[in-house]
Amino acid sequence: MRRTRRVLVIDDDRLLCELVRTTFELEGYEVDTAYDVIEAERVLVESRPDAILLDIGLPGIDGIFYLERLRETPQTSKIPIVAISGSDEAGRSARGAGAQAFLRKPFSPLELITLVTPLVKENGFGELGPSDVVDVADLNRLIEIGRRQHQLLHEAYAQTVAVLASALESRDFGTSRHSRRVTSYATRLTLEVAPGLLDDPSLEWGFLLHDVGKIGIPDGILLKPGRLTTSERRRMQEHAELGERLLAHVPLLNQEGARVIRSHHERWDGNGYPDRLSEESIPLGARIFAVVDSLDAMTDQRPYRAPVSWEVAAEEIRRCRGSHFDPDVVDGFEACEPDLYRLHLEELAA
Ligand SMILES: [Fe+2]
Repeated sequence: MRRTRRVLVIDDDRLLCELVRTTFELEGYEVDTAYDVIEAERVLVESRPDAILLDIGLPGIDGIFYLERLRETPQTSKIPIVAISGSDEAGRSARGAGAQAFLRKPFSPLELITLVTPLVKENGFGELGPSDVVDVADLNRLIEIGRRQHQLLHEAYAQTVAVLASALESRDFGTSRHSRRVTSYATRLTLEVAPGLLDDPSLEWGFLLHDVGKIGIPDGILLKPGRLTTSERRRMQEHAELGERLLAHVPLLNQEGARVIRSHHERWDGNGYPDRLSEESIPLGARIFAVVDSLDAMTDQRPYRAPVSWEVAAEEIRRCRGSHFDPDVVDGFEACEPDLYRLHLEELAA
């Protein structure tokens, strides 16, 4: 009877393990996951995988050391190992320590399958036909070319957007760092609350360009040092709608990113603007962004007031749970607050 191909994934990133599992299961593999070395050892006692995907950056153990151990242990010495890491240098060390291949994070499902399948076949699984023989080095090169092209295009686009964001802000607060900071906070918080949203590339642009509509607000209002009158405030509030309209014809932005731009001043209790949306009728990206925008507004030095401490700002976010902010997003904020604080400190030091 034909045996099912089997892969063991060893990575402490649970989300990545799930992505890898889904990818391989669609290809008919059985997948074991292990979040640490102890679990991996337990799985290896019970079954013999046809390939192992090993994160080199496992916490608490030197990944290269563990790789060498797998190579030296008779039960695992012949199993192909694909090292995974975000660093090329770790990849080179892994190849030196006996990994058959290296996959750099982030990778696509297609890269994963095209890299692992020939290794499983070479490992004696299935009949090798002439068209199945793929040189892993060639394949890696092709993948690398594709990745670089994609990256170049992405960087060119990102630079254009960043220049636009910083041009906008030099007119506003005299700083170009607010957009960058809120984008990094918002991306981290999205990962906590709704990681699937990050698949939409427009989201990050929406974060970066959330206030693009301020380009249409007169200096007399935008730069006014004192309190705005009611009509000036209304005019200022138009920036949300105006921003969305400005970018309506840019296809790459015209999804969740555009919704962030329009709805980032909506409030959970329905007292926001421009549409007075409430609760889940507010796009999730905008609900996430509202929290980090307030956080940064409070902790950043503005011409008209001094910043408050991180603790005071975080307390204010918690206080507004269920009124200004989505309760689930505030819970997510609490869960990843140490990471957000680390980003805050990095920005201060930059
Ligand atoms: Fe805004």
